[in-house]
Amino acid sequence: MLKPTIEAALNRQVNRELYSAYLYLAMSSYYDSINLAGFGQWLRVQAREELEHAMKIYDYIGDAGGRPVMEAIEAPQKDWNGAKVAFAEVLAHEQAVTGMINDLMDLAIKENDYATREFLGWFVTEQVEEEKNAGDILVQIEKFGDAAGPLFSLDRSLAARQ
Ligand code: FEO
Repeated sequence: MLKPTIEAALNRQVNRELYSAYLYLAMSSYYDSINLAGFGQWLRVQAREELEHAMKIYDYIGDAGGRPVMEAIEAPQKDWNGAKVAFAEVLAHEQAVTGMINDLMDLAIKENDYATREFLGWFVTEQVEEEKNAGDILVQIEKFGDAAGPLFSLDRSLAARQ
């Protein structure tokens, strides 16, 4: 049985993962609108991963004897000031999510909730990959500066993400 503090914190994280999906869909739409459909595709796939993260936590709450509760999802912004600025926000957002997962882990440790600690281990590892993926792409965008050619070439390679 989950302690109420853990159940509430996990439910908050379901909401934040759903927000992440929403944010990345908003960004996908933004990149499509500036003719960078490969970035749009990459973010669309990223949004799907965020839904999977939300469902993993949703299922765990139920399996552990709690009840998933759906709260309102915050609306993300619609526009960004260019390809680089938007992608810098992907990395910043992932870093913020890492902080949330770490806070959840701190709480599970404080509450001696061994099962939730084990469960959260997957997310701790996943966040290393999430930050690396976003950071690697941002480095490439920064390397190109404002040159359109290399940016379109990167866009073509990002379009391959399924
Ligand atoms: Fe669910 Fe991108 O972290």
